[in-house]
Amino acid sequence: MAYRLALSNQKGGVGKTTVAINVAGALAARENDVLFVDLDPQGHGTEGLGLDDAYDAEPPSLYDVLLDLDSRSLINALVREHEEFDVVPSNVDMFSAEPKLTTAMRSRERFAMALDELEHDYDFVIVDCPPSLGNLTDNALLACRNLLIPALAEGTSIRALEILFDQIETLEQGYGVDIRDVGLVANRVETDGEATEMMAWFEDTFGGRIPVWEVRKRVALKRAWNEGASIFTHREDCDMEDAFLDVAAHLEEVAG
Ligand SMILES: Nc1ncnc2c1ncn2[C@@H]1O[C@H](COP(=O)(O)OP(=O)(O)O)[C@@H](O)[C@H]1O
Ligand SMILES: [Mg+2]
Repeated sequence: MAYRLALSNQKGGVGKTTVAINVAGALAARENDVLFVDLDPQGHGTEGLGLDDAYDAEPPSLYDVLLDLDSRSLINALVREHEEFDVVPSNVDMFSAEPKLTTAMRSRERFAMALDELEHDYDFVIVDCPPSLGNLTDNALLACRNLLIPALAEGTSIRALEILFDQIETLEQGYGVDIRDVGLVANRVETDGEATEMMAWFEDTFGGRIPVWEVRKRVALKRAWNEGASIFTHREDCDMEDAFLDVAAHLEEVAG
């Protein structure tokens, strides 16, 4: 079965989508068969991979797969080919998923049930989460049970991570499952005092238990995004490739 990984942090703009695209790109560059799923109603990942048409497409979309239990095998028909990996795009209808799921049965298990229907046997499924804690993020965490945390090297991350871990504990207790954090990516790191202090905090807090990677602020990451790809197929070299390749190698290891 595919190793499923959610990238989550309810804080917006920390690099979930950027890290998700480039981790997926690194895994693909290392010859893995990868599926990228955009679970964010805003569809930044979908757009960042050049699939704007899918975002605006008529139903059925991921929304229908999540909302209608009988439609969950439709996920196979949603899979789009990207030059590096396959993609299940988000759709503008996903904005209605959060409120509609609230009253649905097994509302937090819908995504897991849909992934179970995938006919293609991927090595990795990488899930980009919305910038909020709610039903969609709970669905991603329960379906993946493995979490990669992108966070900014800023003081505000401390509280954000506390809130995220509280939610994980609630889900673990409520569903009797284990959700493993497999690593933390400090993203958009600059060379100021606050970043240095926060890198030390990440190391102290997490370093003994999980890897902490550092991805610096690089305009090449933005330019690759604008071209609909990860830095691994983007024509310009980026010195952050090694960081993402390290993440990929670690994921291969924990995936067994
Ligand atoms: N390491 C980085 N260097 C430069 N820009 C970055 C980096 N990581 C993210 N960005 C930019 O920051 C913005 C927010 O990143 P994004 O991945 O969309 O965050 P999130 O998905 O957590 O909301 C985007 O414009 C993205 O291009
Ligand atoms: Mg995002």
